[in-house]
Amino acid sequence: MDHQDLDQAAIAAAARALEAGALVAFPTETVYGLGADAENPAAVAAIYAAKGRPQDHPVIVHLAPEAPLDYWAADIPQQARALADAFWPGPLTLILKRAANIPDAVSGGQDTVGLRCPAHPVALALLRAFKGGRGGVAAPSANKFGAVSPTLAQHVRDEFGPDGTVAMVLDGGASQVGIESTIVDLSRLATHGPVLLRPGHVSAEAIAAVIDQLPSAPDAAAPRASGTLESHYAPHTPVAMQDSAQLRLTLAGLAAAGRKVALIHYSAMPPAHAALRLPATPDGFAHALYAALRAMDGQGADLILVEAPPQEGAWLGVNDRLRRAAHGSTGIVHGLLNSSAPG
Ligand code: TXA
Ligand code: MG
Repeated sequence: MDHQDLDQAAIAAAARALEAGALVAFPTETVYGLGADAENPAAVAAIYAAKGRPQDHPVIVHLAPEAPLDYWAADIPQQARALADAFWPGPLTLILKRAANIPDAVSGGQDTVGLRCPAHPVALALLRAFKGGRGGVAAPSANKFGAVSPTLAQHVRDEFGPDGTVAMVLDGGASQVGIESTIVDLSRLATHGPVLLRPGHVSAEAIAAVIDQLPSAPDAAAPRASGTLESHYAPHTPVAMQDSAQLRLTLAGLAAAGRKVALIHYSAMPPAHAALRLPATPDGFAHALYAALRAMDGQGADLILVEAPPQEGAWLGVNDRLRRAAHGSTGIVHGLLNSSAPG
């Protein structure tokens, strides 16, 4: 669609649906979200039911740029306002102490709330139309729990189908960033400093440039974040990640064993059962990654083999998602190499 030419009627209908307590999927610059009125506990409960997500996993509340932070969060540190000024609208989520009026359902029972103002024009128009711009839209990624996040409206339709669970899917084209927002926890600044709960397009260094403090990695006591579970973002087909040289050997070995490999790579590689070559830049790779995982998941392959990106800072978000997608499939490559395909 042409983003200059928003479908105002669809956006108004989506805002009314949210106000009536229905679920609406909408595009953001990171991934598509499955939205509900954050102040309507029954609507938020419907998100958990639709996703099959455990109740104790909090959801991010999406706000219009003009929304007052103090309505949603308490004890807001000056660093939070500085980060919101620097990066909103944009792919950064701030974890803050929650205000007293925020329903438990949104916070998963924790004393904090995740807030973000997304940069996609359709998301912004929706947030401004919903409750006159004063509301908050609770929205996790619009996928079943543990599955790959959607970066196209079609991914959402594939995931939820036409059974009415999701009242509307707003189509805003392909999500530009392609992986979920960076999450930084500022709720325990005095004792823990800023904590990077999930790496993303906004880097720790970019955050440090604004607040003069580099966010640290989470310790064991950090709040639970489903996107930080060891296994997440996973297709049905097993995923393995290998560096370029190892991957060439594995491809040859699996071909000899009669195995079907779906390959996601960025440098030149020999042919496979199916392959997608992604841009060799962190932004280009992130933009294309989830659609590639979904496409390769549909190839009837024994394995999705991914060429491991460089271990540099700019690739942190992509490496994080790939590591979780590949979790638990160590050993699978060995198993496939050491047995031949049936029949
Ligand atoms: O880019 C994104 O953040 C997308 C789009 C739709 O905005 N949303 C997204 O939501 O990725 P979700 O629910 O799939 O992941 C949000 C993550 C989860 O890991 C959740 O546990 C964490 O944010 N989170 C939300 N509120 C939190 C809180 N109060 N404390 C700690 N983690 C929180
Ligand atoms: Mg998610």
